[in-house]
Amino acid sequence: MPQHVFPSTDEVLSGLADFFVAQARAAVAARGRFAVALSGGSSPKKLYELLASAAYRGQVSWPQVFFFFGDERNVPADDPQSNYRMAKTALLDPLGIPAAQVFPVNTTLPPAEAARAYTQTIADFFAETPARFDLVLLGLGDNSHTASLFPHTSVLRATTADAQVVFVEELQADRITLTAPLINQARAVAFLVFGADKAAAVRRVLHGERNVAEYPAQLIAPAAGEAHWFLDQAAASELPG
Ligand code: 6PG
Repeated sequence: MPQHVFPSTDEVLSGLADFFVAQARAAVAARGRFAVALSGGSSPKKLYELLASAAYRGQVSWPQVFFFFGDERNVPADDPQSNYRMAKTALLDPLGIPAAQVFPVNTTLPPAEAARAYTQTIADFFAETPARFDLVLLGLGDNSHTASLFPHTSVLRATTADAQVVFVEELQADRITLTAPLINQARAVAFLVFGADKAAAVRRVLHGERNVAEYPAQLIAPAAGEAHWFLDQAAASELPG
């Protein structure tokens, strides 16, 4: 799993923005479109703002880019907790991305229905081919979760490449998440992790004992692709060597 370690957070963000541009260009050149699943939480907000900035916005053919979400909270689209709202504010609106190119989870539905509907949305987009995202962006929680694949949850045992609902005890909340099999069908996966508070989780996932129940991000290993880790030195500080 290629690790890209940078001295500062800003350099990690630029490194991942460059990677995003390269992946987008390659996908559009090869297949005429770039299907990306965005990650949520706080880490990627600055990445999205950077991609929408004058430094990067001209480097991608945005009309050929289609946006999905790796997971979503069970909240309205205008809720401050919504991953869609964060991406809309930081990336989609500044770039003027039309709604037809954006596929949010429909959280007006009850969570189980929202997951089933999202599975259908993804299947419809990829038509008869298996659903292969060109890029899945992921974060990492300090408990080693990624997307909404939280420790000791039933979704970790999913064998189907789809979107599922998961009740997260520690949050006392439902989440909708892509399953590991669906994420692992991607051509590329990129983790964005920075800060010393993530260093232990990074070490456990990359170099700890194999224990996917405790360290769910260990499930991520694209079958025909690569999982790239974009880290600052603080997050990489517990890695050997
Ligand atoms: C979410 C994300 C989640 C996130 C990690 C890290 O919906 O919260 O999908 O997996 O990437 O929790 O979050 P931070 O970037 O806020 O530390």
